Amino acid sequence: MRKNIVAGNWKMNNDLKATKKLVKQIRKSIKKAELNNTRVIIAPTFVNLSAAVKRSKKSKIEVAAQNMHQANNGAFTGEISAEMLKGVGVKTVILGHSERRAYFGETDAILAEKVNAALANKLEIIFCFGEELADRKAGNEEAVVESQIKNALFHLEADAFKNIVLAYEPVWAIGTGETASPEQAQDMHSFIRKTLADKYGNNVSDNVSILYGGSVKPANAQEIFSKPDVDGGLIGGAALKAEDFYSIITAF
Ligand code: PGA
Repeated sequence: MRKNIVAGNWKMNNDLKATKKLVKQIRKSIKKAELNNTRVIIAPTFVNLSAAVKRSKKSKIEVAAQNMHQANNGAFTGEISAEMLKGVGVKTVILGHSERRAYFGETDAILAEKVNAALANKLEIIFCFGEELADRKAGNEEAVVESQIKNALFHLEADAFKNIVLAYEPVWAIGTGETASPEQAQDMHSFIRKTLADKYGNNVSDNVSILYGGSVKPANAQEIFSKPDVDGGLIGGAALKAEDFYSIITAF
């Protein structure tokens, strides 16, 4: 049975003090909440992971990293490895976010290596992908999404998908205030599930959680999450306010 997930991608926001405060607020707000099988994940920046893990202990909050390097160690100045993430108690890593692809040159080939490194280190992956506006205008959104998934994930064995969560994030909807309509999200999620089923069978495709990301907020979360193939959201801006994040978590 796949789980519902609401994950907050904090991006390059919140210093240590703000991190501690926000974790505390989220922790308090969800303490008595009926979470209906929903996992709650937050992804602070690297330097604050340790503090977030510490402050999330004995709560329903799970802490994820926003990125990692594909090598286990070595001369890669400024980078962080899977092993280091595990060392501070992180169990999940976001890979392939469109900002990583666009600003830091992460290609499908690099992402395939990162996927392998994360899985080899027993980290769960939230794997992001999504088309740009020009792709959608040209009617190429399915082809783009299919190739992003195939190139980075289809070398894996079926079993690997137990540790993979997919996050469909159309680039034109990220941080723009423009959300994909619930129907657009459902259509793409159903296409993604079919793509997985064709390669790995229904057992894999039925059990993978597929999140939607891109301007999810309290006002639209419920409608998007009500779609049968949408298992939650990857939330940027609205994850930075405890109140908004809470209403999204409880939107199921
Ligand atoms: P947004 O970001 O919710 O601010 O659009 C989503 C994301 O980038 O994961």
